[in-house]
Amino acid sequence: MKKIGVLFGVENTFPGALVDKINSMDIEGVSAEFVHLGGVQMAVPSGYAVIVDRISHDIPFYRAFLKNAVLTGTQVINNPFWWSADDKFFNYALASQLGVAVPRTVLLPHKQYPAQINSRSLRNLEYPLDWDAIFDYVRFPAFLKPHDGGGWRDVFYVQNREEFFAAYDQTRDLCMILQAAVHFKEYFRCYVVGQSEIRIMSYDPHRPHEQRYVLDPPPYDKKLLKRVEKDGLTLCRALGYDLNTVEFAVKDGTPYAIDFMNPVPDADLHSVGEKSFRWIVDAVARLAVKKAQTTNKLRSPLNWAGFLNGPLAKKDRPAR
Ligand SMILES: Nc1ncnc2c1ncn2[C@@H]1O[C@H](COP(=O)(O)OP(=O)(O)O)[C@@H](O)[C@H]1O
Ligand SMILES: [Mg+2]
Repeated sequence: MKKIGVLFGVENTFPGALVDKINSMDIEGVSAEFVHLGGVQMAVPSGYAVIVDRISHDIPFYRAFLKNAVLTGTQVINNPFWWSADDKFFNYALASQLGVAVPRTVLLPHKQYPAQINSRSLRNLEYPLDWDAIFDYVRFPAFLKPHDGGGWRDVFYVQNREEFFAAYDQTRDLCMILQAAVHFKEYFRCYVVGQSEIRIMSYDPHRPHEQRYVLDPPPYDKKLLKRVEKDGLTLCRALGYDLNTVEFAVKDGTPYAIDFMNPVPDADLHSVGEKSFRWIVDAVARLAVKKAQTTNKLRSPLNWAGFLNGPLAKKDRPAR
């Protein structure tokens, strides 16, 4: 029996629905359950053919468990190696090279450093920073946000230098980016699954949290939706994510990619609505089953490139 495990935290609706959906598909030799684990022995298989990971960004123990699981033959959605390597600033730089529109973005040195870091540790760093050059490039209004953030934590909208410094002073030892604000007309959040399926959802960031997904969207320009679809897929293929939400802010018909490092996208019935909830449960269930049905064999020799690329497809394996 190939087991598909779901690893999750506080969320209530998605994990159970996913397990039920997979089991109701009644696929011979495949079953789903919640992952159960304790101390993890090195290099011992996890017992799961596939794990859908919804929580390892918050719990380092789970991330380390998942890497060990990949090493021993489990396919994890999302690949923990890609995810560990990623950050938002890299994402924007990559997007710009892929021809996807992104707002002008600058990576900033930390406001504060941990206690053991002193000025001798920072001798490579320009001081004071050339703030004029940074502001001239980005231009206000702008967003100051963590280079590795999530859930709108420590996100500041700043309209001038004074507001910028007031916000920057609150950022502790976080690594921050400053990004030009897109004054958008439309805003989309898109589920992208298996690097091949995409669902574009209308989203209004100005509404209260639980009403942000617009359940009765107006009709959108078809060309715009095509471009959003193409750019969303391009980003997830480059980043190696099998499950992601890609956010776009649209200005004058151009979709600017704003946030595409959401490897545990919000999939709660009560925020995304019934239709999108069904869509994401179905799409992830089919993907997990498909992965469970392909026998995993890591690329040889064992190295980081192999872990990042995932299992060898059957057709690419050397004949014995
Ligand atoms: N450059 C930008 N232009 C317009 N809105 C932005 C921009 N950056 C962030 N935002 C707004 O702030 C929200 C949170 O920023 P985001 O980059 O998505 O961080 P998080 O990972 O915390 O969700 C976005 O959903 C969007 O509404
Ligand atoms: Mg976001």
